[in-house]
Amino acid sequence: MPPREWNAASYDRMSDPQLAMARDVIDRLDLRGDERVLDAGCGSGRVTEALLERVPNGTVIAVDGSQAMVDQARERLGDRVEAFAVDLLDLTVTQPFDAILSTATFHWIGDHERLFTRLHDALRPGGRLAVQCGGAGNIANVQVAIDAVDHPALRGWPGPWNFAAPEETTQRLARAGFTDIWTWLQPWPVDPPDPREYFTTVILGSHLERLSEDERAPFVDAVLEKMDAPVRANYVRLNLLARRAN
Ligand SMILES: C[S@@+](CC[C@H](N)C(=O)[O-])C[C@H]1O[C@@H](n2cnc3c(N)ncnc32)[C@H](O)[C@@H]1O
Repeated sequence: MPPREWNAASYDRMSDPQLAMARDVIDRLDLRGDERVLDAGCGSGRVTEALLERVPNGTVIAVDGSQAMVDQARERLGDRVEAFAVDLLDLTVTQPFDAILSTATFHWIGDHERLFTRLHDALRPGGRLAVQCGGAGNIANVQVAIDAVDHPALRGWPGPWNFAAPEETTQRLARAGFTDIWTWLQPWPVDPPDPREYFTTVILGSHLERLSEDERAPFVDAVLEKMDAPVRANYVRLNLLARRAN
């Protein structure tokens, strides 16, 4: 499945939690400031902008599978970054990166084996990878609410997410040629200020694409009704740090 389109303007408004989560991940790259860095799954460019502050004398390239997200990132960042649309599963680069950052993206990608090979090949030997995405158990309370709504159009569908566990991720990274691998889970509860818009854009976008236009808003409301008030999404993030072997 190719990456889907996003409502980029709404994501830009709703993604304060993702920006807050991403700051620690940027810190972990421990940048000198002159590196060549890839933001893999840049979304609307808010995290890319924070990354840019850390590489004043370097280069940031931003890629995303959604053209709408890339357009939004270009609007935010202008010519400070080169941003383009690509499926990370098809990523090829001519000039390798010193570091790759990715936040809130890998759980949207089913084939982590292939993804890690593509990222490995995009790094120079010794180049570093710092990632955070949804991990095992992520937003389990939301999944319970989705299951409780039991919409006929979603029955039997495994859902859009790949919430991987640390152990299997470590093994996949090692098989792809990474070393110095660290993987761990981190709970991060999110209380969205506007649950309806947040769920529509950030959490349930892929679900809604399987429903007719008329069914979408009532489905979001039905999921929210199944959740405890005030609405809290129990995020569990999978962090990974690794280095391409020399
Ligand atoms: C929740 S957003 C995260 C954006 C940003 N990194 C942040 O933390 O706010 C997830 C992004 O992953 C992108 N994405 C999903 N699958 C992808 C793929 N196979 N290749 C490239 N980008 C992908 C989506 O288009 C979307 O912009």
